[in-house]
Parts: sequence; C-alpha cells; structure tokens
Amino acid sequence: MTDHGERDAAHTPVTTEAVPLFGEDFGGDPHALYERLRREWGPVAPVLLVPGLPAWLILGYYEVVGVCRASRLFSRDTRLWADLRDGHAPPGTAVPAGLLYRPGLAFAEGDEHTRLRRCLTDALERLDPASTMRHTQEIAEELIDAFSPEGRGDLVGQYARLLPPYVLARLLGVPENGIGRFVAAVTHEEAAPHPGSPGSGDALGRELAALVQARREEPTEDLTSWLVGHPAALPDEAVTSVLHTVLRRGDGPTADLLSGALRRLVHGREPGSAEAARGLDVEDAIDEVLWTDPPVQNGAARVPTHDALLGRAEIVAGDLMLMGIAAANADPVLGRGTTGPGVSGRSGRRAHLAWGAGPYRCPAQRLARQIASVGAGVLLSRLTGLRLEVPPERLERRASPLAPGLDALPVLFEPAPANAARRAAPVVEPAFAEPDPEPEFVNPFRQSWWHHS
Ligand code: HEM
Repeated sequence: MTDHGERDAAHTPVTTEAVPLFGEDFGGDPHALYERLRREWGPVAPVLLVPGLPAWLILGYYEVVGVCRASRLFSRDTRLWADLRDGHAPPGTAVPAGLLYRPGLAFAEGDEHTRLRRCLTDALERLDPASTMRHTQEIAEELIDAFSPEGRGDLVGQYARLLPPYVLARLLGVPENGIGRFVAAVTHEEAAPHPGSPGSGDALGRELAALVQARREEPTEDLTSWLVGHPAALPDEAVTSVLHTVLRRGDGPTADLLSGALRRLVHGREPGSAEAARGLDVEDAIDEVLWTDPPVQNGAARVPTHDALLGRAEIVAGDLMLMGIAAANADPVLGRGTTGPGVSGRSGRRAHLAWGAGPYRCPAQRLARQIASVGAGVLLSRLTGLRLEVPPERLERRASPLAPGLDALPVLFEPAPANAARRAAPVVEPAFAEPDPEPEFVNPFRQSWWHHS
C-alpha cells in the first residue's frame, strides 16, 4: 500500500482477484458464491460490481454492523469513490443509479442527515396503521381484480411491483386523478438502472415538486403535508429530496419483500414442497425473506475515508465497499445456516441486517412490513388453487448486483370474477407493532475488527 488513498497497481487484489457479482455464478446461487468468498477471503472479499468496477463485499455480520455504525470512517457520500471521482472507470461503464450521488437525504451525513431524517421519522410516526391497512387492502383488491378472471398472472409485474408505489402515492397525498401518472413516473425511474438509459428522466422529480407545492398551498393529512409543515421548516427542495429517497429506497425493496414472501407462500401450498413441510404463514415467510433473501442484498454502499485493514483486506480510502447483507445474515458466527426450518432456531428472530444498521438504518420498517403482510394476506385470501407455473428453480431474478429480486412470478389459479370474495375486515395484522431493534450483538473478541493503516 502506498500513501493515503493511492494503491500500488501490482498489489491490487481488488482488481486482479475480484469475483463478478454478475454472470452465472452470482445469478445461479449467490449464497454459494458468498460462502466460497468467505472461505477464501474471510469477512471481506474483492468483487466486481459490473465489468471494470471493483468493490469490497463485506460478508461478516459484525463487520457490516461495525462499518455501518462507524459513519465517520465509512462515508456514504459516493462522491468520495475514487474510481468515479478520478475517472478510472472504463468509458461507458454502467454504474447502478442508486450509487450515484444526488443532493438530499439519500447521501446526506452529519447534522444535515440528522435533520432530514428526523423530519421523515416524525412524519412516518403520524401515519395511522389502520388507515394504511385500508389503503393497502383496497389497492390490493383492485390490482387482483385486473387479473383474477384470467386464472393466471405474474405476481411480480401485475401485483408486487405495483402495490407499493400505489400505496406510497396515497400516503404521500397524491391527488386521485394524478396517481396513475405518478406511479408511472416511479416505476419508469425504477426500471432505468443507469442514468441515460431508456426510461430515465426527471418525470418523478417534476411530479414531486408539483406535489410539494400543492401541499404547501393546501395542506391535508398526508406525509407530504406533514413534511412541509414540520417545525424544522424545510425548503421545498429538501422536502422533495426526502420524498425522492422515500420512493427510491422504499418502492423496490418493498416489492421484493412481497414477491419473495409470495414465492414461498405459493410454493408452500403445493403438497410435498419444503415450504409446506415448514407450514409457513405470512409472517414466517416475510421473516424468511428478511433473513435469507433480503431485498437490499448488497445495496448499502460505503466509501472509507481512511485506509483500513478489515479482515485480510487492505482497503484504501476511496474504495467502494458494499454491505453484503444476505451474506452477513448467513455468517456462521451466528450459528445458523442459510436454510432451515422457517425462522425457528435462528439466534434472535429480529437480529437480521435486512434493514441495515447504524444511523442510516431503514426508518420505514413498520410501513414496509405492513404493506408486504397485507399484500400477501389479501392475495392468498382472494385466489384459490394457487400454484407456480414453472418450477421454483426456473424463476428468474433481475440482473442486479445490489438488489437481485424476482423478475417474474408466474402463477396459475382458479379464475375468479373481479370484485369476488371481498373482505370487509383486515386480513392480517403486522407481526410486530414496533420496528425491529438495532442489532445488539457485541462480541468481546471482535472489538478490534478494523485498523487504520
Ligand atoms: C415503504 C417502504 C420503505 C421506505 C419508505 C424506506 C425508506 C428508507 C429510507 C428513507 C432510507 C434512508 C435512511 C437514511 O438515510 O437515514 C432507507 C434505508 C434503508 N432501507 Fe428502507 N425503506 C422502505 C423499505 C425497505 C425495505 C422493504 C427494505 C429491506 C427489507 C429496506 C432496507 C433498507 C436498508 C438496508 C437501508 C439502509 C441503507 C444504508 O445503510 O445505506 N427498506 N429506507
């Protein structure tokens, strides 16, 4: 290693031995890849994010918790990422949009972050769970009506990907006559993984700016109005940035949480399946996804502000570090495996890292879990004879190193007329009234898990 922030090209494990987070090995069985990396490298391994872009994948549970908590040493401001800052990335490299800095809550740090996050958590706390449940149930019923007469459907494209943005649009106070356009803007932005790719644009930015202005002029009871009227007196651009982060960070992961749970629940209805043997209910299925298939799989990124030795990895200031949440949840130090009988036997049902850790931990766990629980419950209560149309091993995942959720979930069921079997009462209650607590594991032997170099 040379001076601070520079690397001797001859000793650059991060580029010479990096293992791709794309292609057959990753796409086929990411857990097998993580375990191989853990055996070969220990808790931190060199990976390629996309061709030409190296990163460190943090596989150790305590290492992820430690890095996420040490927010001064491991920044989330990706403008510090040397490969992009210094133009080392090969021309045309497709950097995932979620890693590109934009002003506002998504990449804020220190006092600015504390202030913006506080406004958001205050607004989220004002949400009435009963009314969120009603909105979710109502939208879920409408989405199911659109395909229930067919006897077949794609539970990702026709359901899981649509439910969260429609619910979020309602909670944000988007006027009913503009919800379709708003959701289209959200889903187009989601579908545009790289800036400049088809679908990217600032339609969502325009929708949000108009919404903030409308709620400033005429406040109602919704998240946007509560942010606009917060005593911190945020300017419009700051409110817009918070809403953008809510949609960007909330929409896709909630869809993946729901589709992951649905895959397990639908397969669990087939006699002889592993899920049926475990007798999974909706909440078990959600817990299982959070442990073994977390939606933000490698998507929490950090950039070290100092050189550091972490595990056997010599990390240089300006490198990109990805929190391997799925790998960390399966770390043998927790005494569990990646499979097992439901969530029983796990060391603490809620100790997984699916919501992250430290000051940037997901502030919307309760909401996300409620949307996924109600969404899964309504679907199971409406459709009978549900089964997968293809064997589970043939279900495709998105080609994303950060969030490789299900791309499609084709199912068959007994055709049912729209508006059939509507239920007046809530179908499911969320399992936990309070969000999962910050992980509390402290291992006395691991206090010195990193060193400045
Ligand atoms: C309605 C749904 C959701 C909303 C509104 C939401 C919102 C957010 C926001 C605003 C942040 C940034 C927090 C900050 O900067 O302080 C965040 C972070 C995070 N969220 Fe969520 N989220 C949602 C669902 C989910 C789901 C379903 C998951 C995965 C199970 C998830 C996992 C995470 C993680 C891991 C982080 C931390 C990222 C990091 O440390 O860099 N979120 N979420």
